[in-house]
Amino acid sequence: MSYPASRPRRLRRIPALRALVRETILSPKDFVYPLFIVPGRQVKQPIASMPGQFRMSADVAGAEAARLADLGIMSVLLFGIPEHKDAVGSAAYQKEGVVPQAVRAIAKASPRTVIMTDVCLCEYTDHGHCGIVEKGEVKNDETLELLAKQAMAHAQAGAHVIAPSDMMDGRVGYIREELDEEGLEDVAIMAYSAKYASAFYGPFREAAESTPAFGDRQSYQMDPANAAEALREVMLDEEEGADIVMVKPAGPYLDIVRAVREHTDLPVAAYQVSGEYSMIMAAAEKGWIDRDRAMMEALIGIKRAGADIIITYFAPRAAELLK
Ligand code: PBG
Repeated sequence: MSYPASRPRRLRRIPALRALVRETILSPKDFVYPLFIVPGRQVKQPIASMPGQFRMSADVAGAEAARLADLGIMSVLLFGIPEHKDAVGSAAYQKEGVVPQAVRAIAKASPRTVIMTDVCLCEYTDHGHCGIVEKGEVKNDETLELLAKQAMAHAQAGAHVIAPSDMMDGRVGYIREELDEEGLEDVAIMAYSAKYASAFYGPFREAAESTPAFGDRQSYQMDPANAAEALREVMLDEEEGADIVMVKPAGPYLDIVRAVREHTDLPVAAYQVSGEYSMIMAAAEKGWIDRDRAMMEALIGIKRAGADIIITYFAPRAAELLK
């Protein structure tokens, strides 16, 4: 049947009718909110490159998690920014490091919150790369042991989900084995499986002070031109024991989110990264775009593409609008 018998506009006439036929529904339960943790007490510093986002100390993160839970946001993803950085990222695997402290503070202040932690060395190394560097090269196998130590420190503090974002080969299997040996077999792994070498991480690197001092991340993060390789990464992580797989960034990679959704039975997460957030915020500040509408459209697009879990800096604002 075609026009004039068929008129799709009939179902768009009034809000309740549109709601009745809506195919994709966002919920605050879909969201994971990233938190940047710094040392100290009662610290809350605005991040210039990400308006509305803050670096905060562990105690403030606890209060923040409780506020998020009141909004219906039940998951947070922690990034640590330590006082001291060195060549091997020593602060990443201290049992009393910034992230383990925040894990404990959040578990206490908001016991129902799912605590996820980013596992990667780039925020902790003075050269800003995600692994051990030798002769200008990021060494894969030498890095695995340090990542496992970092994962262990987070899991022992009480993290529910470990999220390795370094893109070293074999890290999911390595971390899984080490966790299991320590009796931490109930701690889940959310693998940044298809993480692209992206310009959209720019604002985050300012927030985490993790811009590489030399070179770039193209020898370990994926080439934006590749889709089949993303499926291969997902398959490998699945075989190594990943519980959730992730695509990152989200917006420019919605085809990958869809392909991964169709390729695996695991839950699929998509990370709407700092650049995706800051572009909307900057355009809205200039009055060029409606912030809330652009935000909701970007988020619904990610969910429609097939993401079960959306990691987003917009979580609190979007949850307010969804109330
Ligand atoms: C690495 C990591 C990065 C992001 C999350 N984990 C930065 C990078 O790879 O350079 C980016 C997140 C964002 O841009 O919001 N630890």
